[in-house]
Amino acid sequence: MNNYSIFEESKKYIPGGVNSPVRAYKDMGITPPVISSGSGALIFDEDGNQYIDFVGAWGPMILGHCDKDVVEAITSTASKALAFGAPTKLELELAKLICTTTDIDLIRMVNSGTEATMSAVKLARGYTGKNKIVKFAGCYHGHYEGFLVSAGSGVMTEGIPGSAGIPQDHVKNTIIAQYNDCQSIEEIFKVHGDDIACVIIEPVAGNMGVIKAKDEFMDKLHSLCVKHNSLIIFDEVMCGFRVAYKGAQTLFKFKPDLVTYGKIIGGGLPCGAYGGRKEIMEMLSPMGPVYQAGTMSGNPLVMAAGIATLKKLHLDSKNYDKLNDLGKLLEDGIIKIAESNKLPVKVNRVGAMLTIFFTDLSEVSNYDDAQKCNVDMFKKYFKHMLSSGFNLPPSQFEALFLSLAHTEEHIHKFLEAFQGFCSKFSL
Ligand SMILES: Cc1ncc(COP(=O)(O)O)c(C=O)c1O
Repeated sequence: MNNYSIFEESKKYIPGGVNSPVRAYKDMGITPPVISSGSGALIFDEDGNQYIDFVGAWGPMILGHCDKDVVEAITSTASKALAFGAPTKLELELAKLICTTTDIDLIRMVNSGTEATMSAVKLARGYTGKNKIVKFAGCYHGHYEGFLVSAGSGVMTEGIPGSAGIPQDHVKNTIIAQYNDCQSIEEIFKVHGDDIACVIIEPVAGNMGVIKAKDEFMDKLHSLCVKHNSLIIFDEVMCGFRVAYKGAQTLFKFKPDLVTYGKIIGGGLPCGAYGGRKEIMEMLSPMGPVYQAGTMSGNPLVMAAGIATLKKLHLDSKNYDKLNDLGKLLEDGIIKIAESNKLPVKVNRVGAMLTIFFTDLSEVSNYDDAQKCNVDMFKKYFKHMLSSGFNLPPSQFEALFLSLAHTEEHIHKFLEAFQGFCSKFSL
């Protein structure tokens, strides 16, 4: 069977042929490659094509595909521990690693980013006794009902304003603010201030393309939350352990009350976690009244993969310099090529995550800016790069990810293909 026949047959058994919508490449108008294996920075499809991969499973593969230490940790654990539904030493090890690195007091493991964010919001509501939550247009926090309003990435690419199947009641407590807009957040707190349990934010957004929160905006957000006894949740499911050694929270002047993780901390296996200040986290069952549980939470294989990934990442403090240097090489190269071809682009990058926005705006700093981009040009770029052997996120509103398995040679090859695209399509 080849890519096409596998995907066509999958559609008979799996809605749209995929287990998560962005994988269908629907907006790109093509059949996605069906991936058979990966190694380092490369992945291979069922037709035998090779791609240099800049998706990295949407973030987790920061060490590259099938890193030998991660695989070894999973296989050696599998021979003695698949699942017990009981405490294990591996859970302690990963929890300690994350808490000590990021300076949070307590952490609870779950099975996905969505589970982490929805549980963090429930905890914030339980702790504050308030109901309303604020999220930002273009930020995605998973598919929990209260979040599927102006939710970025997949939802944005498919042009669906929210989702069917969500009773109005479930979103009536979700208030939408504009990212990087002090006035928007001030107005919301003026009207709803004392009813707001929490503000949830991607401090480095990746789901409307890469956009970093500005310092003055974050300072304003922090002061309003302190004034109104509302918690701040940093959703670091995507940017945690990707943009900085100790997590994205170290890029800002204050610490969030709660943080959510996923992707990288599971080393490629299904994982999520949420953590924060002791007095908040101790509201969780069995210590407190906020109930959250999971048969598979803290699964031994996932813990082993996460420990191996974080240990390797943190083994050498220069790893993040390397990721940043590769990111900068890519960013500078794209800008130079685009300029020399008179192709208007704006490149947003934070460490090893980057988006090329096809736009002549001088900055892309929120959802409205992102929506003004030339998605037709993005499609041409995406198709050109795919056919040149580069696996990229199939949406203007996603981030491209680098890993420690990428080399300068991979970046130069990307730039060569980008030059080919510019020669073909720019004016
Ligand atoms: C910032 C952010 N939060 C939450 C999620 C949801 O994570 P998951 O897909 O593991 O449920 C994602 C997924 O991409 C994300 O990017």
